[in-house]
Amino acid sequence: MKLIIVENYEEISKLAAINIKDVINKNPNAILGLATGGTPLGTYKELIKMNKENEIDFSKVTTVNLDEYIGLSERNTQSYRYFMNENLFNHVNIKKENTFIPNGLAKDIQEETNNYDKKIDELGGIDIQILGIGTNGHIAFNEPSDFLISGTHLTDLTQSTINANSRFFNSIDEVPKTAITMGLGQIMKSKKILLLAHGENKAEVIKEVLSGNITSKNPATMLQMHKDVTIIVDRTIGDLIKITDI
Ligand code: F6R
Repeated sequence: MKLIIVENYEEISKLAAINIKDVINKNPNAILGLATGGTPLGTYKELIKMNKENEIDFSKVTTVNLDEYIGLSERNTQSYRYFMNENLFNHVNIKKENTFIPNGLAKDIQEETNNYDKKIDELGGIDIQILGIGTNGHIAFNEPSDFLISGTHLTDLTQSTINANSRFFNSIDEVPKTAITMGLGQIMKSKKILLLAHGENKAEVIKEVLSGNITSKNPATMLQMHKDVTIIVDRTIGDLIKITDI
């Protein structure tokens, strides 16, 4: 695992975008694994800028997202499809038919999750996966649990995730309680993984990810078994995890 400490959120975003640009410039048909939430927003802004300045071409790129809430349509402003359209896809030259997000309205969820894994495998797997992290260690919506699930699956959200995500909704009651998420096995198959985190509330969980211990109580600790993971954090986290202690 490689840890890079940069000054602030803007620098995390710039560095993440440069990493994505490098992957696309080496392989114009790259498969990007994308996340939603607050963390990647700055990265998406940088990618939009790079696309406008002709530094990246998305015309042959395919994207697969980590997760989607159950029950929200793509017109719902809280759905992750809406989020991705608004914050990236509508502003770059990507073909919408090459952007994949689990369908939270699927009638047969089991079929939807199976097909999602099949799709990723058919595409040849993810070239670079962008991850945020929950304060409880979740990546995608793989929540702390007694065991972790490998493939894409339906999951209940923990109260801590519902509380954290309620900041995007009018009230906590509107936050869906279930979601479709890519599983840990599928994420671990990605060729390269970038985990981004900023702010003091993520320091403890990042310290655990770097600890050498692996536990299903902090799903992100699994990433220690992957051979190409880069964690990019801001100075706030860097100072709090006192890297010499690890
Ligand atoms: C989103 C996702 C989640 C978030 C995590 C952090 O697609 O998979 O795991 O990355 O909840 O969210 P933020 O970035 O809002 O702190």
